[in-house]
Amino acid sequence: MSIQGKIIKISGPAVIADGMTGARMFDIVHVGKATLIGEIIRLDGDTAFIQVYEDTSGLYLGEPVESLGSPLTVELGPGLLSSIFDGIQRPLESVAAQTGDFIARGVHTEALDHQKKWPFTPSVKVGERVGPGETIGTVQETEQLVHRILVPPDTQGKIKEIRSGSFTVTETVATLEGGKTLALSHRWPVKLARPYKQKLEPKEPFVTGQRIFDCLFPIAMGGNASIPGGFGSGKTVAEQTLAKFANADVIVYVGCGERGNEMTEVLTEFPHLDDPKTGGALMNRTILVVNTSNMPVAAREASVYTGMTLAEYYRDMGYDVALMADSTSRWAEALREISSRLEEMPGEEGFPTYLSTRLANFYERSGRVITQGKEERIGSVTVVGAVSPPGGDFSEPVTQSSMRIIGALWALDSNLAYRRHFPSVNWNRSYTLYDGLLKKWYEDNISPEWTRNRKRMFELIQKDTQLQEIVQLVGPDALQDSERLILEFGRMIREDFLQQNAFSPVDGSCPLKKQHLMLSTLLQFYALGEAAIQRGAHIEEITELPMKEAVDRMKEIPLHEYETKITSIREEMEKQFRALGRVQVVS
Ligand SMILES: Nc1ncnc2c1ncn2[C@@H]1O[C@H](COP(=O)(O)OP(=O)(O)OP(=O)(O)O)[C@@H](O)[C@H]1O
Ligand SMILES: [Mg+2]
Repeated sequence: MSIQGKIIKISGPAVIADGMTGARMFDIVHVGKATLIGEIIRLDGDTAFIQVYEDTSGLYLGEPVESLGSPLTVELGPGLLSSIFDGIQRPLESVAAQTGDFIARGVHTEALDHQKKWPFTPSVKVGERVGPGETIGTVQETEQLVHRILVPPDTQGKIKEIRSGSFTVTETVATLEGGKTLALSHRWPVKLARPYKQKLEPKEPFVTGQRIFDCLFPIAMGGNASIPGGFGSGKTVAEQTLAKFANADVIVYVGCGERGNEMTEVLTEFPHLDDPKTGGALMNRTILVVNTSNMPVAAREASVYTGMTLAEYYRDMGYDVALMADSTSRWAEALREISSRLEEMPGEEGFPTYLSTRLANFYERSGRVITQGKEERIGSVTVVGAVSPPGGDFSEPVTQSSMRIIGALWALDSNLAYRRHFPSVNWNRSYTLYDGLLKKWYEDNISPEWTRNRKRMFELIQKDTQLQEIVQLVGPDALQDSERLILEFGRMIREDFLQQNAFSPVDGSCPLKKQHLMLSTLLQFYALGEAAIQRGAHIEEITELPMKEAVDRMKEIPLHEYETKITSIREEMEKQFRALGRVQVVS
């Protein structure tokens, strides 16, 4: 029997209904005659507190509310890649086809295309026993990606029948003894983390191609980071750059509550971008979940879970997935709005008291794991969440709660952005907790000198910061040449190394080997300069060395020739330094 109550209160996206006896927490409901989609987020006797994922204007008291008896789920199967969904996994394209440019309310549509047939190749035989997470066959989802059809996490049994051929996502491809059927797709509740066998210590880097992240504040594959930054400081560009260049197999990009025009850029730009990894279209490994600021606020709350569940699904197939969330502040604001509409006790700055728990639950779903099942695949979900603190003030609750959870902070700085120093990551405020775990990987795979170089660079940029303060007080003339060399090195690190134009065809992404060669050349420049000064050379002679311009422009050297070119720059550099500051022997 269906559970049906009546609306007794409407407050923006929140609706209260009574007569909901038998309803459960997180049940999805149809609200009003328009059958708007909502979710029960609190129950008090037979009174249900509901967040409605669609615009509630036009609803009346007394209209019916019907529980569908199940939580918000997403549909998982081939065809997710290159899709654009709203916060509750309605494909924007088919919604638009049904209702025009604006999303009409009460639209119920399938997430995946239910007509399309996918060629399915079984990989198990009749009589074989299969457990949760085990592969029963594969579908070539895109040119690059094989989609494993997995036994859903809550299912197991012996294969009674299995078919090969072309199937839609809902047709039965296998039957288990006992009658349970398996299709190319299954559903999973978004708020329930998909199970895995074991979480692994992250040991490999999530390579971003951005020097400030890879060299200074790296995160691990399966790790998490947060990018807080004031208005216009470069959060969205950073998220999009990672989506384009990071070494993930699948990207889930959640545009959460940002302005429509920012998402339009993503929606119009992404489908035309080439994937630097495969040469194919970038969208072929991307799923967009879009809930802009003009779309209903409750669906924004759901969008991060929808995105996370899609990410976990590909992780379970053994892929490295990156989830970008822009911006978690808008998600938190949705929580705040709904909580206040329901007249809950507010915490700091009006956010609900459960803000940090919710944030932690979300970030904890990242990780590198051994998947369920005997095949023991390894997959990962790496999460990078943007935070938009009002006024760029990091002491506010969303930034502070995030900082207690995440493994790396990439703090953007409006002053740097104002000076057009991009990425505007502040190297004094940012940090990573992954450097110890990743040290060995970098030393084994890139260079044994990696950690030493990194340490030396940090020492020197710290000295540079201190010296700059002195210069501001007393002017540069008070400094000795050896100190002025540090200032010059600091400038080179900032301009030649840390600044990286996301839109540059050559430097948009920089391979780790090139990052290493660039940094070690800059450090070598400093070391040779220091020695020359000790031999009596002047700082001007060093800054005016003819090869210096080539050192300053290493980032512009194209990929196919950087190794040879940087090697010859170094040779020339050593030669020119040797000629400096020779002590004149007077006989
Ligand atoms: N890595 C980069 N390389 C070059 N330009 C950049 C880079 N990062 C940011 N910018 C410049 O800064 C502008 C603002 O960046 P972005 O839109 O990412 O800021 P935001 O922090 O997302 O802003 P908002 O607070 O409005 O969401 C971009 O349009 C671009 O011109
Ligand atoms: Mg932005």
